[in-house]
Amino acid sequence: MVDPEYVYRRTTPASRALHARAVKVMPGGTTRTTTYFDPYPLYIDRGEGCRIWDADGVERIDMLGNYTAMILGHAHPKVVEAIAKQAARGTAFAAANPIEVELATLLCERVPSLEQVRFCNSGTEATMFAMRLARAFTGRPNIARIEGGYHGTHDYAEVSTHPAPSDAGPADRPRARPDSIGTPQWALDGTVVLPFNNPDAAERILREEGARVAAVILEPIIGAGGVIAATNDFIRRLRTVTRELGMLLIFDEVISLRVAPGGAQQLYGVTPDLTTMGKIIGGGLPVAAFGGRADVMGLMDPRRMRNLPQGGTYNGNPLGMAAGVATLKELTPDVYEELNRQGARVKDQLTEVFATHGIPAQVNAAGSLFAIHFTDIPVTDYRSKATSNPKITHDFFLSLVNHGVLMAPRAMGALSTPMREPDIQEFVDAVDAVITEQLPRWRVNGDLQARVRPVSPP
Ligand SMILES: Cc1ncc(COP(=O)(O)O)c(C=O)c1O
Repeated sequence: MVDPEYVYRRTTPASRALHARAVKVMPGGTTRTTTYFDPYPLYIDRGEGCRIWDADGVERIDMLGNYTAMILGHAHPKVVEAIAKQAARGTAFAAANPIEVELATLLCERVPSLEQVRFCNSGTEATMFAMRLARAFTGRPNIARIEGGYHGTHDYAEVSTHPAPSDAGPADRPRARPDSIGTPQWALDGTVVLPFNNPDAAERILREEGARVAAVILEPIIGAGGVIAATNDFIRRLRTVTRELGMLLIFDEVISLRVAPGGAQQLYGVTPDLTTMGKIIGGGLPVAAFGGRADVMGLMDPRRMRNLPQGGTYNGNPLGMAAGVATLKELTPDVYEELNRQGARVKDQLTEVFATHGIPAQVNAAGSLFAIHFTDIPVTDYRSKATSNPKITHDFFLSLVNHGVLMAPRAMGALSTPMREPDIQEFVDAVDAVITEQLPRWRVNGDLQARVRPVSPP
């Protein structure tokens, strides 16, 4: 029987050595919690197209693309050219620059809710500013969010992203739980938690919390939390109720902007008041944005006597803007269509592989995003996702690394445009090989029986 950790340690000596050095100068040897996994992270030396090479020179297919950001793959010639050209002309000025106007215009043309937009450097900043804007615009203190959604790592975002279900209250009236040590009590007190895809419960909670809620923020397609699409009914109900109750509706499309030129809001035909974006809009450089209704965004206008200021040494820096423009120009409607077609194919093929092996797994997919949940119940919200078996998930992930594929440790993936049919087939074959290899071990260890059951919270 094959122990994935043993194989990983044996085949990644350069990553192991780098990590041994790194732990001396960075906590846990990492500067990004999401790139860490046990026993130590993989160190990537370079990437090209949909392929990456680790520090030992081993090639893998990149099924994660920097957590969905690298939609054109790595080192796309047009993006490389745009970055090189701009780098030679200077990378940052204490001044506005022409390319930020171009990227802002492109985004406003494509994303239905965007009348005006502002740039920042990370999705974390984008959601932080969108929430602050909502509080400023409505004069209300609280933010409602979805249990199991992810909005980055500022204080208001670090609530009920991955609570222990046993500690999170009833599924239809979740309690605000901290995601991190150090999350302040005021962030918990100022957060209203809504269950995903339960329109009646969400509406009831919003009516109860009423006049204290400035905004509802949600990912129309939960990304990092397991690729879970909102139902039409849920999205439409939130739109209607927020409008009636005077709350802003914020779509966090940091990930879901990759499903269509205008993001998930275009697919659902529902226009939020504000939208946050990141990942693909920077073409692999640290660019994010938030935008929406002109009357709300207008609060940031520095010509106003009292305005909401947004500092940021690297906001709209020309290098990121150039990479973003080059990327968006490549992303024509046909490109999204083809990516989404391949996404549907991946879902079908993976579903077949798991069924053939009799593995209880759910393959969630939306556009070019997908996630595998090792549970026998459909994953439609956080509580159902929390039934997924973490031990099998980790073995699966690490075995895939050993078989030449990088996904997220929580078994999420994203396609990129350089992927062709043989690349996809290679991935599906690797999944098949991993299951064949690990299944006897999971059976002997009783892992398949030890699936996490839905809990009945107090
Ligand atoms: C939906 C969503 N919002 C916000 C963020 C935070 O973005 P960043 O990691 O750029 O801070 C992420 C990151 O994955 C995300 O998926």
